[in-house]
Amino acid sequence: MKLLVVGGGGREHAIIKKLKENPDVTEIYALPGNGGIAADAVCIPEIGAKDLDGIVNFAKSHNVDFAVVAPDDPLAMGCVDRLHAEGVPCFGPDAKAARIESSKVFAKNLMRKYGIPTAEYQVFTNPEAALSYLESASFPIVLKADGLALGKGVLIAQTLAEARQAVRTLMQDRVFGAAGDEIVIEQFLTGPEVSVLAFTDGKAIIPMVSSMDHKRVGDGDTGLNTGGMGTVAPNPYYTPEIAQVCVNTIFLPTLDAMRKEGCPFKGCLYFGLMLTPDGPKVIEYNCRFGDPETQVVLPLLKTDLLTIMQAVENETLSELAAEWRDGCAACVILASGGYPEHYETGKPIDFTAPFPPNVTCYHAGDRERDGKLVTSGGRVLGITATAPTLQAALRDAYSAADTVSFEGKYLRRDIGQRALRAGMN
Ligand code: AMP
Ligand code: GLY
Repeated sequence: MKLLVVGGGGREHAIIKKLKENPDVTEIYALPGNGGIAADAVCIPEIGAKDLDGIVNFAKSHNVDFAVVAPDDPLAMGCVDRLHAEGVPCFGPDAKAARIESSKVFAKNLMRKYGIPTAEYQVFTNPEAALSYLESASFPIVLKADGLALGKGVLIAQTLAEARQAVRTLMQDRVFGAAGDEIVIEQFLTGPEVSVLAFTDGKAIIPMVSSMDHKRVGDGDTGLNTGGMGTVAPNPYYTPEIAQVCVNTIFLPTLDAMRKEGCPFKGCLYFGLMLTPDGPKVIEYNCRFGDPETQVVLPLLKTDLLTIMQAVENETLSELAAEWRDGCAACVILASGGYPEHYETGKPIDFTAPFPPNVTCYHAGDRERDGKLVTSGGRVLGITATAPTLQAALRDAYSAADTVSFEGKYLRRDIGQRALRAGMN
């Protein structure tokens, strides 16, 4: 079988490595892929993830049997709709279902209509109305741009002055462009955060092993928000009892709601949850695999990934059960110094020692130059280790991470510490 994977980061590398385990897979094309992914797939750097014409033409001309669309942008733009129109089977939601991520207003209204627990909120299209609402609000408060904003469209205001500034940033200075034409202002929630990715064909759901992201750039969860500096799985706060509550009050109601709204969700649905004193609530939905959550979740999956993805496409997921490995996974991101703000690229990457068998290096932002890998993005590599305990996984991921060098290499040193403090071994 010939497969096509849209995207070119660490998440896509993890998906590709897992898909390759299926013996029927003869070829995987990555559009665009990256320097490190080229060791596992045929990369097509000329066709970017948002080039829908390029992707569809490539799929047809190369007789692709199955496509996986991984990033949010092409999903929101209708990449799956276009591939389906050409008869290419694929994994991922259509554009209508992808609104669960691409429009925060859609997601919040869905949750309100169907009684799915989430933060109380109001929607504003007019900055004056937003500013006057804030006069009687309590703080901290959370302001979110409606549209996709590279994960940066969420502002937490501690005071009225900060909240007013946030309204100006989003709606008047429009730093996230049209994404800020409509905003959500919502209640600030507290509690541990849990990421749960789930396979769903619109009716059945297979939640994956839970995970914990580390979004801030600095140790101790300080500094700016990033795409994610590291992950661990499973998440110790997500007990079997809480998981059952989430299935009943969040996961199944969300699938029902999407079906009733005429946009059944097929693909990987990402639940960003907060375990509040009033029970689990949805912080955000993503219409795709998380990055770097995927880099700790898929290594723990025993069942063949392509089989699951095909069952999602064929709407036969209820006939499958997924099996997971015991043990833990930890992923440490190696970033370019300065990320998530300004950073330099083009730095040669040196791998000074081979990785042990329980360690995998997922390439996120690199490219080939004169036969050598050089950095090309903010997040460069994700080093994942699996082990019977989290402590062992962290030890192995960090020792492998220390064998890789490039100028300006930056990593957090405390990935997994919160999970250990929560009682994990
Ligand atoms: P998002 O881009 O929606 O994942 O939001 C980024 C981060 O902002 C989340 O991971 C939370 O830590 C935080 N956040 C978002 N919404 C809320 C909320 N209502 N209350 C507290 N923190 C929030
Ligand atoms: N790691 C968070 C995300 O993928 O959105």
